[in-house]
Amino acid sequence: MKHFLSIADHTPDELHNLLDLAVQLKDEWRRGGNKPILKGKSLALVFQKPSLRTRVSFEMGMVHLGGYALYLSPNEIKMGGRESVPDVARVLSGYVDGIMARVFDHEHILQLAEYGSVPIINGLSDYNHPAQALADMLTALEYKGKLAGLKMAYVGDGNNVTRSLLFAAAKLGMHFSAAAPAGYQLSEDDLALGRQFAQDTLVEQGTDPVTAVTDADIIYTDVWTSMGQEAETQKRLQLFPPYQINQALVAKAKPDCIVMHCLPAHRGEEITDEVADGPNSVLFPQAENRMHAQKAILAALLT
Ligand code: CP
Ligand code: NVA
Repeated sequence: MKHFLSIADHTPDELHNLLDLAVQLKDEWRRGGNKPILKGKSLALVFQKPSLRTRVSFEMGMVHLGGYALYLSPNEIKMGGRESVPDVARVLSGYVDGIMARVFDHEHILQLAEYGSVPIINGLSDYNHPAQALADMLTALEYKGKLAGLKMAYVGDGNNVTRSLLFAAAKLGMHFSAAAPAGYQLSEDDLALGRQFAQDTLVEQGTDPVTAVTDADIIYTDVWTSMGQEAETQKRLQLFPPYQINQALVAKAKPDCIVMHCLPAHRGEEITDEVADGPNSVLFPQAENRMHAQKAILAALLT
């Protein structure tokens, strides 16, 4: 494994190996701390957008593994503005052992990988959010004891998070059923790729949230308006209310379904407080698992 740019780039075996390593590293950390396998290693954290989880989980992941992380805020290097992305990649490669980047344009992730000489980790682009999806599979595995055969229902905007979840679900043997209003769904190309990754499982998309969540083991949602789409907020607030994850919708899934959200949540919009804080919610263990899953990515790329 050279980079971690998209779930689509990795085989099911690679994803399973990362999950196994994440389980081991989480257990080791819980039993008193991780071994310093990244001693002397450094990671630059380049952000073009805000972050709580991605920033802190990658930074603490490096610290726990004995390495060093350097946070570079959107204003600091103004990647693509003050300096071209290829030049940022070339310069940073001389200083650090790896680069994690959160960008607007996915092309910039690809350019970092092309022009840099160190491993690149995608910490979210407009196209995808693979580190989130890997961590989410760890959470699903913990709560359900398996991945193959589960049904994941994604209700809400078909966005970067949805796309990575589709690819991860398909590669790991889950059924994937999405519901979103027309015009806010994943593209036919995305679905075709998902179906290509899926062995014997279903990849479905429609406009009805009840159809999506029926028999679901996992209900997943995300904000209706992603970072960078703020100008569309009012329009989206008109369209998306039928896609809210509330108790009535959760009641249509399996009784023991888990409810997931990558966070940050806009409570009262895509998810109610009752569900976010209710018995089916795994939102905060899910957030913690970002760190455990990403330690596996760091160990795989930097050792
Ligand atoms: N889920 C997630 O990536 O959160 P942040 O935007 O806070 O990093
Ligand atoms: N879809 C959201 C995810 C945030 C972690 C966004 O891109 O803003």
